[in-house]
Amino acid sequence: MAYKVLVLKGDGIGPEVVGEALQVLKLVARDSAIDIEFKDGIIGGHAIDQFGTPLPDDVLKHAQESDAILLGAVGGPKWDIPTAEHRPEQALLGLRKALGLFANLRPVKAVKELLAASPLKPEVINGVDLVVVRELTGGIYYGKPSERRNGKDGREAIDTCTYNEAEISRVLRFAFELARNRRNKVTSVDKANILATSRLWREIAGDLAKEYKDVAFENQLVDSMAMHLMRRPKDFDVVVTENMFGDILTDEASMLAGSMGLLPSASLGEEINTAGFRVGLFEPIHGSAPDIAGRDEANPLAAILSAAMLLDHSLGMRSEAESIERAVESVVHDGYRTKDLGVAAKGMQLGCKAMGRLVRERIESFQPESE
Ligand code: NAD
Ligand code: IPM
Ligand code: MN
Repeated sequence: MAYKVLVLKGDGIGPEVVGEALQVLKLVARDSAIDIEFKDGIIGGHAIDQFGTPLPDDVLKHAQESDAILLGAVGGPKWDIPTAEHRPEQALLGLRKALGLFANLRPVKAVKELLAASPLKPEVINGVDLVVVRELTGGIYYGKPSERRNGKDGREAIDTCTYNEAEISRVLRFAFELARNRRNKVTSVDKANILATSRLWREIAGDLAKEYKDVAFENQLVDSMAMHLMRRPKDFDVVVTENMFGDILTDEASMLAGSMGLLPSASLGEEINTAGFRVGLFEPIHGSAPDIAGRDEANPLAAILSAAMLLDHSLGMRSEAESIERAVESVVHDGYRTKDLGVAAKGMQLGCKAMGRLVRERIESFQPESE
């Protein structure tokens, strides 16, 4: 039976980068004789334009029937209307919530050849290998009330941050389990000096840490964590935090790797798919990058590495995922660069399409000659 993968390209550079990642997935599926049925869906700004809603019902239904989802990015200035009822970003929030994808894994690695792409000193970032586990279906992104209204002093607006024990403990447990397969360290990030939700988070984290005595554990406040991440990033292994802090810290952490265009992500829940692995949604951490959309300038590596995470986490194809990672490393090692990665030697500056093609050629070059 074929595995079902839903492809949601989205807006801006979404179609450009996912176009490349999809071709990588198709190549790997062909080479390993795995049958994957790909389906397309329209979400985000394009869906608002065509259907009047960012997440059409049939797309959500297909998502719920899929083994995994590959997504680009949504949003853009065209749909950035403060008072609009529908916003492209609601598609993401709707998918994450409906599929119960509470754990968003965002690995951050500094690759030796790309140390110069980062604005940070090479000695600070060389060797960085951490993963942020971002809680994805709770907190201020989802709390009610969230609305704008008229008050006695004019317009007012409210957002609400809520978390319950079940939401907090499942994502923390996920982080502790992950640490056991890595370097056995968890850093839990909160704002417990101010927020009630953070104090509950910290209490539950402390209780769990007693259960995971083999894992080194620490708490950090989010403001100083933003600084520690830049000053001593090598000290961190698994960093676990709530929804909005994780969103912000990971864009910051992309500078440890060198570019937003390098960071993939996997969003996972409890549900097991027909392959016997977790249903997941895989997307780069970056957005639709309207400033470079349509110019064949975007870096497709974050999307391609997201496709590798899809194979690994949702289809159990670790060695195929590794061959994609190896291909990416090898292309970067040889000096090929998209614009976001800084100055390239003559003839080594590539557009989105050429970078995708090169990665696929590398993957093919790893295959043993047939016949
Ligand atoms: P962004 O991530 O789109 O862009 C930030 C900067 O990084 C831009 O200068 C952009 O050119 C650059 N960049 C991002 N990805 C790149 C890539 N692959 N290659 C080269 N450069 C890249 O963030 P933003 O500008 O704050 O947001 C733009 C829109 O994207 C907004 O509508 C926002 O809501 C949306 N957004 C969507 C997602 C998502 O769908 N997952 C994530 C973040 C932002
Ligand atoms: C991300 C994005 C999204 C988020 C937005 C577009 C809803 O910034 O995936 O990092 O904040 O979760
Ligand atoms: Mn973000």
